[in-house]
Amino acid sequence: MPSADSAFKPQVAVVMGSDSDLATLDPGIKVLEEFGIQVEVRVLSAHRTPLEMIDFALKAESIGLKLIIAGAGGAAHLPGMIASLTSLPVIGVPVKTHSLSGVDSMYSILQMPGGIPVATMAIGGGLNAGLLAAQILGISDSKVQELVKAYRKNLHDQVIKKDARLVNEGVESYLKEM
Ligand code: RP5
Repeated sequence: MPSADSAFKPQVAVVMGSDSDLATLDPGIKVLEEFGIQVEVRVLSAHRTPLEMIDFALKAESIGLKLIIAGAGGAAHLPGMIASLTSLPVIGVPVKTHSLSGVDSMYSILQMPGGIPVATMAIGGGLNAGLLAAQILGISDSKVQELVKAYRKNLHDQVIKKDARLVNEGVESYLKEM
């Protein structure tokens, strides 16, 4: 939803260091929107637009955001820098890189100094970032909490179905249909 809309009151911001990170974060944006949670999505680079990043982080709480998902790759300073500028919880998503497969991003985001935490997802973990954000919001929003439970029930049911099909059909037939 565009931010010009007056009904747009996002609880979650998804920010990324480059538009090249968007595909990684998109599953998390989609799952939040499926749960009816409004999301502000921004490109804010710790290195290329540091002043805009600072401005965003300093205003985040006052505009009603509850938490921030920040994804970046390589020298991935965006999540940690935002965490240093706001007391809102920050969920970090290490984006997979060509040169070091995202291990660089993961260490950059994960190894925060004591006092300034970033809840770091797996490399490429955009979906889990969205789900964790929904779980946190669900603590004080029973509707969201129910939707998270329904999401998990669906995951459970899918595995039960797959198991039954594998047992009934056998490995070769199952593999042919994969
Ligand atoms: C980081 O550099 C971004 O988060 C991105 O993952 C990476 C590469 O950015 P681009 O060169 O694709 O814009 O700041």
